[in-house]
Amino acid sequence: MKFCLLLISLTVVTLGSSKNSSSSNRNGKLLSLFQIVQFPNDPCVSTSRNGTCYTSDECESRGGSSSGSCAQGFGVCCIFSLACGSSISENCTYLVQTGVTSVSPNPCTYSVCKCSTQICRIRFDFTIFDIAPPVLGEVMDPPVANRGGAIGDCTSDTFSLTSPGGSGSPIICGINTGQHLIVDASDNCNVAAFNLGGSGSSTRSWDIKVTQYTCASGLGGPPGCLQYLTGASGTISSFNFPIANAVIGPTVTHLSDQHYTICMRQEASRCAICYTPRIQSIAPMIAAQSSFGVSKDPAAGALMSAAGVDCSEDYVLIPGAENNPAMGAIPTAAGALCGRAFSVFGGRRCHYL
Ligand SMILES: *[C@@H]1O[C@H](CO)[C@@H](O)[C@H](O)[C@H]1NC(C)=O
Ligand SMILES: *[C@@H]1O[C@H](CO)[C@@H](O)[C@H](O)[C@H]1NC(C)=O
Ligand SMILES: *[C@@H]1O[C@H](CO)[C@@H](O)[C@H](O)[C@H]1NC(C)=O
Repeated sequence: MKFCLLLISLTVVTLGSSKNSSSSNRNGKLLSLFQIVQFPNDPCVSTSRNGTCYTSDECESRGGSSSGSCAQGFGVCCIFSLACGSSISENCTYLVQTGVTSVSPNPCTYSVCKCSTQICRIRFDFTIFDIAPPVLGEVMDPPVANRGGAIGDCTSDTFSLTSPGGSGSPIICGINTGQHLIVDASDNCNVAAFNLGGSGSSTRSWDIKVTQYTCASGLGGPPGCLQYLTGASGTISSFNFPIANAVIGPTVTHLSDQHYTICMRQEASRCAICYTPRIQSIAPMIAAQSSFGVSKDPAAGALMSAAGVDCSEDYVLIPGAENNPAMGAIPTAAGALCGRAFSVFGGRRCHYL
């Protein structure tokens, strides 16, 4: 029997699970003319969100919505948005609620499971994160009273991320747009939970992109790092901190019970990391805060900055942080830093790698 076999030039790299469209050989006589089209389920870029390249059938059966094409037109860019209470094991997934006063169910939990056994780290990027704030305090005015107690506690809304078998996130609330969290991927899935509390009439919004990274890629950062920063410069801030504001109002309050690690990648040919408050203290620091303030200066002295064993309450630990010797300061081997000012010697502290 004469037949003609049509072959089109294609990418036939198979990675991940693509549609199992096997050509059939019926009765050993007739060769099907169906083409086997397989393509890798790679990330794809769509108009507003990014997705994963799947066949249109696969996208539908996996619960995604198709937006644009990929794999030279053989696939669709499949966008995954997870509903409260659902579970997913796809790379590149969005968790979105816009302007809601309540969620159902509450708490709204999203279970994110590894999209392959190779996944080590799962990153949550907060494109929008706006839930009820913690209990606020007039931290600087008066300088000693009003500290502690419920100030900084997330008493209405909370968000947290679990990492069964590892360490999850602390409980956070307030505005965290632009922040991210990364957890070690768990075989039992990682659960992100929003619990909306008493402030029933206020609106909340979140738009979170969830990306999964293989152990080999390195892009998810080392195990145990809740945040991972790359690049030669950038800004680190605590959660619920108004990163974009030029002036830090007196009620800006860091959250209670935060204990986590931020990791920074050493960039090529760099041998030191230096830290400077984005907004320096403005004496007498009553009307406006510096962008650094963690606990009080234990000596309650004029310098308002302390280090090492003097920081017995809240502190930021920068291993090996010292005052910049180039600024004529006395280097200290202090790791723990606290007080109302970051450094009294030129405002900068460096860690030589
Ligand atoms: C594809 O389907 C065939 C026939 O049903 C089966 O033998 C094969 O294991 C399947 N391959 C995959 C990768 O699922
Ligand atoms: C989509 O992916 C591109 C390329 O990786 C990236 O530049 C862009 O920021 C992504 N867009 C979103 C909405 O995540
Ligand atoms: C998930 O998608 C991101 C791009 O959004 C990509 O960098 C990463 O390698 C993908 N992870 C896997 C396991 O394919």
